[in-house]
Amino acid sequence: MSQQQRQITVTEHLLLHQKQSPTATGMFTQLLYDLILAAKLISRNVTKAGLLDVLGETGEINVQGEDVQKLDAYANRIIIHRMQRSGALCAMASEENADIIPIPERFTHGDYILIFDPLDGSSNIDVNINVGTIFSILRRISPPEQDVTQSDVLQPGYKQMGAGYVMYGPSTMLVYTTGQGVHAFTLDPSVGEFLLSQNNMQIPETGRTYSVNEGNVTFWDEKTAKAVQSFKGTDNPRGKPYTHRYVGSLVADFHRTLLKGGIFMYPMDYKIPDHPRGKLRLLCEASPMAMLAEQAGGVASDGHRRILEIVPDTLHTRVPLFIGSKNDVEHVMEILK
Ligand code: AHG
Ligand code: MN
Ligand code: MN
Repeated sequence: MSQQQRQITVTEHLLLHQKQSPTATGMFTQLLYDLILAAKLISRNVTKAGLLDVLGETGEINVQGEDVQKLDAYANRIIIHRMQRSGALCAMASEENADIIPIPERFTHGDYILIFDPLDGSSNIDVNINVGTIFSILRRISPPEQDVTQSDVLQPGYKQMGAGYVMYGPSTMLVYTTGQGVHAFTLDPSVGEFLLSQNNMQIPETGRTYSVNEGNVTFWDEKTAKAVQSFKGTDNPRGKPYTHRYVGSLVADFHRTLLKGGIFMYPMDYKIPDHPRGKLRLLCEASPMAMLAEQAGGVASDGHRRILEIVPDTLHTRVPLFIGSKNDVEHVMEILK
């Protein structure tokens, strides 16, 4: 990429795409712009986490039954506060909130719904390892004069208007798609802007890395264990053993997979006997990552079905996730058949 291309800001990029797409509206661009501002505010605090009183737990348990970290709660508040003022939204849904978050009457309402994981990988905050914010954007299906209903939010992933994440790592990066490829930007803190790093990213067809929490092996069924095991031998798309990498932050594990190829897995497990389930949330984790993966030429599956075709039962429906290089994910699906 030329030096000139590297100086394209995310705002310019969004406007360029808006011009190229006959259906794009200024509202959608405004929505993303406001979301980027919220992400910059979160980034500011995450990078100073050890200096501010933001580490540790709040003492609360969230709707998922998990400990709420102070930064989880902070990121959630920032996004809700900023985004309800954007004028583009009619509702939001967050990993941290049990129900749909309405937009108060006093603000302008739009047609879009924002679903987000305010801070992904929060168990990694206290040890200064990458965390991120994941987002998914839907358009409401009910008429604008009515209240937003559950069915406006419980749409399958292929209906997403856009999706992406911001990763707070050694540098803060934004990766997004609006259905016209996947593009990555890096926050230049000295100018406060996200500048283009990679245009039209493509996941390699076969990778060399597998990523999974193997501590769960005793909770997996036989086929899942066999699929994971296959990456340590030669009976796999690469024909030789893969390298293992696991951060434990989906944003970081997915970002590596997007750039380098390979497969990230969070399979179904039997941690609760007789209740097989996946861990990752369909609406705020699996679906947005699946849209990015497909836009980059990769595959995202729950082991049998395309993630983007699964209709969520509830706001917090969880699914198994196999995502990454086409050949690697299809190889696992073949074993799980
Ligand atoms: P969150 O911090 O938003 O609750 O998400 C954590 C998720 C995801 O980031 C990661 O892939 C996975 O949990 C890791 O789970 P394990 O610790 O069970 O490996
Ligand atoms: Mn998460
Ligand atoms: Mn989270």
